[in-house]
Amino acid sequence: MSKIQKLHTEIDNFVIDSAETLEQYRLQFLSKKSELQSLLSDIKNIAPEERKQYGILVNELKQKVQIVYDQSKEKLESSVSYSVGLTDVTRSAKGIELGGLHPISIVMNEVCEIFEAIGFSRVPGPEIDDDWHIFSALNFAEEHPARDMQDTFFVHTNPDIALRTHTSSLQVRVMENEKPPIRVICPGRVYRNEAITSRAHCMFHQVEGLYIAEHVSFAEMEQTLFYFAKQMFGEGTKIRLRPSYFPFTEPSAEMDVSCNICGGAGCALCKHSGWVEIMGCGMVDPNVLENCNIDSTIYTGYAFGIGIERMTQVKYKTNDIRLFFENDVRFLQQFQTVK
Ligand code: DAH
Repeated sequence: MSKIQKLHTEIDNFVIDSAETLEQYRLQFLSKKSELQSLLSDIKNIAPEERKQYGILVNELKQKVQIVYDQSKEKLESSVSYSVGLTDVTRSAKGIELGGLHPISIVMNEVCEIFEAIGFSRVPGPEIDDDWHIFSALNFAEEHPARDMQDTFFVHTNPDIALRTHTSSLQVRVMENEKPPIRVICPGRVYRNEAITSRAHCMFHQVEGLYIAEHVSFAEMEQTLFYFAKQMFGEGTKIRLRPSYFPFTEPSAEMDVSCNICGGAGCALCKHSGWVEIMGCGMVDPNVLENCNIDSTIYTGYAFGIGIERMTQVKYKTNDIRLFFENDVRFLQQFQTVK
């Protein structure tokens, strides 16, 4: 009898909280070698006058062992399916729509990754900056008409603060804080006081690049940008550099890529020229290096600023810049690889 009592206590104290402990329980109390089995087979050795009582007690024990096992098993299984998610009953019956990256972010990341693979590092910079970083350190003289081309949004109470018109403001920040060799790219949003049309917007995105070291040449810049264009648009892509003017580079150029919408035959995006302008570039003006305390007799460098909207249009063959900012899901969904 004391054996029966002992088993009751063991069962009461047995904690079943996992598949493993459930199995241990089964082996200990339900298997052929369990104590319960030996109590059952002992029945024939019990004195006849005690046998009935003994049988009742052992049977009770047997039922208890089985009930505890069945209930624990059921409880474990339902909690598994509920929380670990074999069947998640809390889930909405409707499919869940996955979000995705905006086409501008996709292209911006792609540009950064191409440059990162050849040694540039990505750095962030402020979208609200001061006159020195946006204009003055970059050689824009106070009354120079180049400032008109980049009219922007100023802070009423402090005309020295403005929304940056280009990511070139970052050239200054990096050069002020680091010693050459410098090899950085800065992706980000920029702002200009422009009327919104299919080709222009008051907010858009650029990726600025800057490389400063000893003996950096224009030819090196050209080959790096050619490499970039091929990575971005495919092996057959051509580039051309046209002389241009930026206050902070000398010489300066605009870089065009062959239009991959019309294959060079002429279309609306390339204004029937076969070429699409995607960036400004040039050799950093020695004045700018000196403004940032870099010795221009030792160091030279090149810089470039890529327009991301234009590039996204060439890459994805879209024809209206406003589509990028309207957030129409029907437009944006076309860029998702996971639906
Ligand atoms: N900041 C110029 C723009 O927004 C683009 C640019 C031109 C950036 C030449 C550069 C550069 O770094 O060297 O139009």
